[in-house]
Amino acid sequence: MAPERTFIAIKPDGVQRGLIGEILGRCERKGFKLIALKQLTPSSELAEKHYGVHRERPFFSSLVDFITSGSVVAMVWEGDGVILSARNLIGATKPLEANAGTIRGDLAVNIGRNVIHGSDSSETAAFEISLWFQSSELNDWSP
Ligand code: RTP
Ligand code: MG
Repeated sequence: MAPERTFIAIKPDGVQRGLIGEILGRCERKGFKLIALKQLTPSSELAEKHYGVHRERPFFSSLVDFITSGSVVAMVWEGDGVILSARNLIGATKPLEANAGTIRGDLAVNIGRNVIHGSDSSETAAFEISLWFQSSELNDWSP
């Protein structure tokens, strides 16, 4: 299986709650390789592009308001099957339905405050990585 890359973001609730280290640790311990990491408060333009697939949904404006409300930790992780595997580490969208052992299952209760984002397909991952990062910000290195 060829190594793939995915985009992961710790949302403002995760940063506010001091969960950055916990989440980085889970991704590192799983065995994925960190390719890029930065902290920023996303602009509305960035957030609207990121959540563009949800533009027609009733919760779109609250989603954009929330993700732009504070500091986000944006990351690119690499590894075999990392896109699906990271989604499994993250758990179901609704934290009350997320399995124990997952990030949302262990650390969240509210769908609007579900701590973390992960790309849901290879197309989405490529789009989100190029949206959030310049290619010069991606660091390839050998473990
Ligand atoms: P994410 O994109 O943040 O990783 O989450 P996801 O794939 O598990 O879920 P998605 O369907 O892409 O939804 C994006 C975010 O929108 C919020 N949401 N609210 N009120 C609602 O019914 C509702 N549905 C989704 C969640 O915060 C979700 O993470
Ligand atoms: Mg999604």
